[in-house]
Amino acid sequence: MSYKQRQQFEFQDGYTEQQQAQYTKYLTKLKSEFEKRWCTQAKFSIEFSELEPIKTLGTGAFGRVMLLRHNKTNKFYAMKVLEKEKIIKLKQLDHTFYEKRILEAIRFPFTVSMEFSFKDNSYVYFIMPFVPGGEMFTHLRKLGKFEEPLAKFYASQVILALEYLHFCNLVYRDLKPENILIDKNGYLKIADFGFCKVLQGRTWTLCGTPEYLAPELILSKGYGFSVDWWSFGVLLYEMNAGYPPFYANEPMKTYEKIVAGKYRCPSSFNSDLRDLVRNILQVDISKRYGVMRNGVLDYKNHKWFKGIEWDAILNCRIQPPYVPKFIAPSDTSNFERYNEEPILPASYCRYESEFIDF
Ligand SMILES: Nc1ncnc2c1ncn2[C@@H]1O[C@H](COP(=O)(O)OP(=O)(O)O)[C@@H](O)[C@H]1O
Ligand SMILES: [Mg+2]
Repeated sequence: MSYKQRQQFEFQDGYTEQQQAQYTKYLTKLKSEFEKRWCTQAKFSIEFSELEPIKTLGTGAFGRVMLLRHNKTNKFYAMKVLEKEKIIKLKQLDHTFYEKRILEAIRFPFTVSMEFSFKDNSYVYFIMPFVPGGEMFTHLRKLGKFEEPLAKFYASQVILALEYLHFCNLVYRDLKPENILIDKNGYLKIADFGFCKVLQGRTWTLCGTPEYLAPELILSKGYGFSVDWWSFGVLLYEMNAGYPPFYANEPMKTYEKIVAGKYRCPSSFNSDLRDLVRNILQVDISKRYGVMRNGVLDYKNHKWFKGIEWDAILNCRIQPPYVPKFIAPSDTSNFERYNEEPILPASYCRYESEFIDF
């Protein structure tokens, strides 16, 4: 759908059923494009040797993410470097394979996607556009908490992104401020599809981050898209409070609090925000916003989002309340510093058969 067509159903406040029906047509088109890419092998027009590593932007359990420069175009990219051996030892082969295919197939304004991917004797490499504003986590810790207009601005984009992913049958499973990046225009890009998968029916895998886990996931019940909405509730709370709703020194104690569903809102939360949080952090999934009969419309029409123009947000036509500072396309000042380690592939191919489809 073109920019012009999308503009037609912009509306001042809330979202009517007709608007949602129109939007569903747009999502249906995005989904069929997702499915087409899902079934086609991606082709890349550049050589790995044309990419020059500059510095580390982040680290994780299986490898690191580095800033890269493409020497022919002078464009900058972020490259997730994953060590095959670690993936095998930590039993993440399926998750990593899904991560690659999902990154190749998704296209939405508020998610990252794959530009190129490569593999060598020891590593697999996922190359995405560089998102220079850094993690939401860094800004949240720096600012303490977000002012309400900023929290609303970010929350509305996360809702649209989850709506898109779920529409494509993708459950994300790792929503948290570390995985949400801020682009140069001040809008969000959700990164890290390491736990994302295509979901038909229910799944049982225990994965995610302790403070953000949904009760049904902790209790090893089969679960579905509801877990992402729970994590969204935790995120919404954390953006507005500066700390998460369920927290303890040990994960086990955190889990006890989560399954009990008991938390307190800081006095700074107004009644609309309290009401919204209460409707999301529902242990009983039949009462949780996002998975009830009205689906995402429960969010789009909630009082706390009064004044949010959902289609204008989608089209990035709202002036962001906050834009991270950055001076050049290769500026990494919004990222923490990490020790650099050389990438040294082995002289023979490791785990060749396991990674044959990568
Ligand atoms: N496209 C990107 N642009 C800029 N930084 C990124 C990008 N992708 C990831 N990062 C940085 O690298 C970190 C780790 O990447 P992520 O995909 O979350 O890996 P992990 O699975 O190890 O958590 C992120 O939290 C972020 O700081
Ligand atoms: Mg991550």
